[in-house]
Amino acid sequence: MIPYGRQSVDQADIDAVVEVLKSDWLTQGPTLERFEAAMAERCEAGFAVAVCNATAALHIACLAAGLGQGDWLWTSPNTFLASANCGRYCGADVDFVDIDPLTWNLDTDALARKLEVAASNGTLPKVLVAVAFSGQSCDMRAIGELARRYGFVVIEDASHAVGADYAGRPVGCGEFADMTVFSFHPVKIVTTGEGGMVLTNRPELAEHLRRLRSHGMTRDPGQMDEPSHGPWYYQQVELGFNYRMTDMQAALGLSQLNKLDGFLGRRRQLVARYQTLLADLPLTLPTLQAEADSAWHLYVVRLQTDLLALSHGQVFEGLRGAGIGVNVHYIPVHLQPYYRDLGFNPGDFPEAEAYYAQAISLPLYPAMTEAQQDDVVEQLHRLLGETRPAAT
Ligand SMILES: Cc1ncc(COP(=O)(O)O)c(C=O)c1O
Repeated sequence: MIPYGRQSVDQADIDAVVEVLKSDWLTQGPTLERFEAAMAERCEAGFAVAVCNATAALHIACLAAGLGQGDWLWTSPNTFLASANCGRYCGADVDFVDIDPLTWNLDTDALARKLEVAASNGTLPKVLVAVAFSGQSCDMRAIGELARRYGFVVIEDASHAVGADYAGRPVGCGEFADMTVFSFHPVKIVTTGEGGMVLTNRPELAEHLRRLRSHGMTRDPGQMDEPSHGPWYYQQVELGFNYRMTDMQAALGLSQLNKLDGFLGRRRQLVARYQTLLADLPLTLPTLQAEADSAWHLYVVRLQTDLLALSHGQVFEGLRGAGIGVNVHYIPVHLQPYYRDLGFNPGDFPEAEAYYAQAISLPLYPAMTEAQQDDVVEQLHRLLGETRPAAT
C-alpha cells in the first residue's frame, strides 16, 4: 500500500535522539530550548513554546487568549476535530464559518458577513481558529483586518503548514495571527512522534503558555503572592496541565528541521507533477491562494462527480483496492455526533459538505518515488475512464 503520508526518519535523526537518551536531561532540558529557539528563528517569531501535541497547543493557546464559558470560538468545518474541540475544553461555544469552494479554507467573505450579524446580536467570537488547510494559509490579511475591526484573537492552526510562507514571510511570524500552532505528528511536514508548538510575538502570551503547559506553576518571585520560601519554592497560580514535550522529541524535531527545506522541495516537486499528470481528468485540482506558498501537507483532489460513472465511495475503494492508500480530509466537524448534539445539522455549511462528498487525499510524502506517483496517476486514469498521458 502506498500510504497517503509518511514520516522520513534517517540515521541522523536516530543519532540525535540517542544522544539525548545518554544525557542528563530527558525532559525540560537544553535540547527542548534549542528546538524552540530554532523554530522561532526559522519562523521569525519572538517566542516558541513546545508541547506534547498540537491539540494541547490549541488548548493552551485558547486559554491564553482568555477563552472561557460564555465566549465563542469560530473555526472552519473542514478541519480535524482538535481545531474546534479546543474551544469546548475551555467551556466556550463553538461555531463554524463555511469554506471557500476553491481554496477549501475558511471563506473570509462568509466570515465578514457572519461577523456583521454577530456584532448586531452580541455574539462576536473571542477567538478565531484559522486553519491552514493542507498547508496553505487562509486569507490571513483579510482575517487580520477583521480581527482589528471586531476585536477577536486570531490563532492560526498551522498544523499542516510548518515551513509554509504567507505574504512573503514564514507562517508563524505573527504578522496576522496572535498565536500560531504547529503539529509534529508523523504524517506532518516534520515530526517529533507526537508534538506541537505555539509561536507568538507577545511576551505575556509566551509566559502564560509556558505556565499552562506545566501545571500553572511558577518559580518567578514576581508572580507569587508571598515572598519565596527558598530555592525549592514554586507556586501554582492557576490551573495548568502537564503538556510538556520531552527532550528526545525535541532532538528529533531539531534534526528534522535541518531537512525541512528538502522535505518542502520534494513535496512541491511531486505536487507540480500531480498538477500536470492529472490535468485532463474530471477532477478539481487544488487552487492556490495568491499570497500563500503551501507546505503541501496534503494533496487533495475533488472528483467532478457529475461527470463520473462511479461514486466518490467507489473511486475511493477502487484506489484502496489497487494499493493506493488514499484518505479523506475532512468529514465536516459539525456533522460529528458530538457537534450534532450541540445543535448543528446537515446543510448548515453546504460548501464544506459538498467538498466532503468529492474530496480524496492522494499519497504525498518526501520519500514517495515518481514510480509510485505514476502508479497513483495510472489508477486514477483507469477508474475515471481516461488514458494516461505521457509522463513528464
Ligand atoms: C488541522 C489540525 N489541527 C490540529 C491537529 C492536532 O494535532 P496533534 O495530532 O498534534 O494533536 C491536527 C492533527 O491531525 C490537524 O490536522
